[in-house]
Amino acid sequence: MTVRISEFQNHVGESVTIRGWVYNLRSSGSIAFFQLRDGFGFTQAVFSKNDVSEDMWNQIQSVTIESSVSVTGVVTPHPKKENVFELQATAVEIFQIAQEFPIGKKEHGPDFLLDNRHVWIRSQTQWAVLRVRSEIMTAIFDWMRENGYTRLDTPILTANACEGTTDLFELPYFEEKKAYLAQTGQLYLEAAIASLGRCYDFGPVFRAEKSKTRRHLTEFWMMDAEAAFMTHSENMDAQEDMVCFIVRRVLERCRQEFEIVERDVSKLEAIQKPFPRLTHADAVSRLQKMGSDIQERDDLGADDETKLTNEFERPIFIEKYPAEVKAFYMKRDPNDETRCLNADLLAPEGYGEIIGGSERESDLDMITKRIIEHHLSPDVFSWYLDLRRYGSVPHSGFGLGLERIVTWICGRHHVRESIPFPRLLNRLEP
Ligand code: 4AD
Ligand code: MG
Repeated sequence: MTVRISEFQNHVGESVTIRGWVYNLRSSGSIAFFQLRDGFGFTQAVFSKNDVSEDMWNQIQSVTIESSVSVTGVVTPHPKKENVFELQATAVEIFQIAQEFPIGKKEHGPDFLLDNRHVWIRSQTQWAVLRVRSEIMTAIFDWMRENGYTRLDTPILTANACEGTTDLFELPYFEEKKAYLAQTGQLYLEAAIASLGRCYDFGPVFRAEKSKTRRHLTEFWMMDAEAAFMTHSENMDAQEDMVCFIVRRVLERCRQEFEIVERDVSKLEAIQKPFPRLTHADAVSRLQKMGSDIQERDDLGADDETKLTNEFERPIFIEKYPAEVKAFYMKRDPNDETRCLNADLLAPEGYGEIIGGSERESDLDMITKRIIEHHLSPDVFSWYLDLRRYGSVPHSGFGLGLERIVTWICGRHHVRESIPFPRLLNRLEP
């Protein structure tokens, strides 16, 4: 019977077949060991020369690292480790003998690994990160569903900018028109709340950002959520609840993955409600005391976010940024018209921004004024302005960067390891 390695605990003492890849092997005279993975788990198969035919033994000896094989044997408990099983193997069938594998045991630099990303994703650490990524996505879908949000797919080809015009990818679009790759689906979600009440999208977005930091990709996955009648503070409540839900879910389901990436899970267990809420003004004065040269109305820089979040065990909200450093659609704070009713959610341990959100300006005249102030063209926003003409309501939303949250949860250094095939300033391949 063909089984998955992850199902071994149900087959102890039985003869089973697994299909996969030999990621390591060694042989000592009359015994051969294959380290095997099948996509679902990892195990060791042990062959004994005395138990197999000469032809079979020769086939075993011909296997190289990363060869694809099927192995048949009896599942036995590991002699020392609990809940770990091995295969006392009796037969191997070879799909393909691999050529010399480019990634070896020696340390490789990041560029070499990224050039070989198509085969690097086979490594245990990358396997674990990809699995956690998938689990986080599923958790987000579940949270959204439980909280009344309908999924809405927003277009990737758009005519207008949303998050500023400096980092737009532009492409020709028939008869001398121009299209841009979407930076966010937000504006379309704002249209759809008048149909669905609450909705979200989840897909790739694009930013032609010339930044080479550990937090920036040029193509990344964003989940945007939007809700009618939601206030700025309720918007933060929702994000807080969702992040706690995600963390609980991965703690339940991704223990093996966290062991592989050597994540200190006590740091994740500490993620509980409520998350501290600081105003931008508070954050600036704290940072100045810590030696930062940030000025009163500056955006937080990457270093500032790192400094600040190292001080906290939980994610923190920084609210009410100066309007001039944020997007045109944000509603202003009625108590200080120079600031927005917005918040960035920063992950602890130095990770920084994982979510950006705000209440939206819902007044027709005001939003028109903001569009002009931001040097955006009211023409391409005419459909968006209709939303303020026909049944405008107070509403709020937020956008979560998937790779940022995966990087934090997995305790990785750079976002490029949190997406299967990263697109960076200097990288379009593989
Ligand atoms: O803060 P941002 O730019 O917000 C928006 O786009 C809003 N329209 C979202 C909304 O309200 N619906 O981006 C949202 C999140 C950031 O908090 C960050 O996690 C991630 O997207 N992000 C990036 N991730 C990787 N690489 C980049 N270049 C990123 N830029 C933003
Ligand atoms: Mg942001």
